[in-house]
Amino acid sequence: MFVSGLYMVNADISKADQYKLFQIHKAAGVVMLWTLFVRVCVRIFTYAPELPIEFSKSDKKKAKAGHILLYIAVVVMPLSGWLMVSASPFGLPTFVFVDWIKWPHIPGVARNKMIETIANNIHWITASILGFLIIGHIGAVIWHRNKHGVNLLDRMWWSKTKR
Ligand code: HEM
Repeated sequence: MFVSGLYMVNADISKADQYKLFQIHKAAGVVMLWTLFVRVCVRIFTYAPELPIEFSKSDKKKAKAGHILLYIAVVVMPLSGWLMVSASPFGLPTFVFVDWIKWPHIPGVARNKMIETIANNIHWITASILGFLIIGHIGAVIWHRNKHGVNLLDRMWWSKTKR
């Protein structure tokens, strides 16, 4: 999504290719929105393992804050994209990969330039923040592996064990 978003906005490509890339980006984003919905339900309704006992109090606080920020960013990303295309002065439809699944636009904002600009700014600012959060998230996994010898990937995957 980062690569397609930056490429479709900045690359020197034809309008037709740009349109196609926009459609792919939007469709993938809508699929992500649904995947995210499933993820949030799983997170709410199933067991989440405690953070490892090797973590200090401040490690735990930082990890929780990072996770909350990650959730906020990944929710804001597709929602701001959806708001942006719903308010776009071009009023182009959004299809989810095949032309017969037309994703509805948010009602009440059609062709509203001001809302489009706000959503556009939220979209790229959040994308930048999300980029740093992802780097921090991966960095933390590597750091804790080296510092405490814990494999945090275990608690993110099916093999997660109670601790
Ligand atoms: C889940 C995550 C998503 C990520 C990580 C993401 C990421 C990005 C990035 C990095 C850009 C380039 C920002 C810029 O330079 O202006 C972008 C642009 C864009 N995104 Fe997304 N996006 C996501 C979801 C969506 C969704 C769901 C939609 C619409 C349904 C959408 C619609 C757009 C549009 C229309 C642009 C072009 C904005 C412009 O013309 O400046 N995005 N996206």
